[in-house]
Amino acid sequence: MTLKEKINKLKKEKNAIILTHCYQNIEIDEVSDFVGDSLYLSKMAANTNADIIVFAGVYFMAQSAKLLSPNKKVLLPNLNSGCQMADMIDVENLKHFKEKYPNIPVVCYINSTAEIKANCDICCTSSNALEVVKSLNTDKVLFVPDNYLGKFIQNKLKNVEVITFNGFCPTHLRIRPFDMIEARKKYPNALILAHPECHQDVAKLADFVGSTKEIMEYAKNSTNKQFVIATEKGVVDRLQRDSKLENWNKEFILIDENIICPSMKMNTLDDIYRTLDEEKFEITIDEAVATKAKECIEKMLLLKIK
Ligand code: 13P
Ligand code: SF4
Repeated sequence: MTLKEKINKLKKEKNAIILTHCYQNIEIDEVSDFVGDSLYLSKMAANTNADIIVFAGVYFMAQSAKLLSPNKKVLLPNLNSGCQMADMIDVENLKHFKEKYPNIPVVCYINSTAEIKANCDICCTSSNALEVVKSLNTDKVLFVPDNYLGKFIQNKLKNVEVITFNGFCPTHLRIRPFDMIEARKKYPNALILAHPECHQDVAKLADFVGSTKEIMEYAKNSTNKQFVIATEKGVVDRLQRDSKLENWNKEFILIDENIICPSMKMNTLDDIYRTLDEEKFEITIDEAVATKAKECIEKMLLLKIK
């Protein structure tokens, strides 16, 4: 039996599903039940009837799945696959940030630990951040941990002051304005699509700024034929694959070959097989933290944005 066949057999026997973020190594898609961005995957985690969820993604994503499906076994193939941005804020930093700016609602990006979510008012993802902030009907918000997603929202909302924590994604910050200018010169007919985790000086040089899902939809639906993608390599791999499979006749170019998230790329098919076979690397969350963190995510889901 091939590794893929073995994984599929185990999935059936154990009533398990595999949720895969689109920054993962692309071969993992072939054994996955759902592939998408963090908002889509959290919704799938909340709605599944499976007994086991294997999360092919990073720690905070598997933790969010566990928060939304507390009675299911959630497994992460590499417990060390953390998100560097999520790890830039801890409860102590958050406490100081809140003390510095008291009585202001706190929005946390889903790229954060359960402990941080437990101490924030509402969660958001890059797909719905703008709508989540608007839904609060307030003139000021604190936004953690991503400084750049926060600044992206600030640029869109003139009547709200978005006070950002100073976290960032090291992978997206590798993209510099110089890369955008060079790409524009080299591919004058291309549209440049960027993720809001990019530095604002990069984002302002893009033709479109959106979440992983929004970038993929934009590229698919656009009548343009060539695109430079300013986000993680997995997005380009999937766009190239789908373009070939569905004859879109479009070209996708990664802005710089180093835009690869090392944590996202830790998982292999072999890791997934062993995790599922041995049911190891289970996510567990302290009950008091879980109750509050779950509320933070559920408030976002209840808004039913997109
Ligand atoms: P999405 O919300 O677009 O899936 O992004 C998650 C992420 O980690 C981006 O770096
Ligand atoms: Fe975290 Fe950046 Fe990797 Fe996304 S790409 S998981 S924000 S380190």
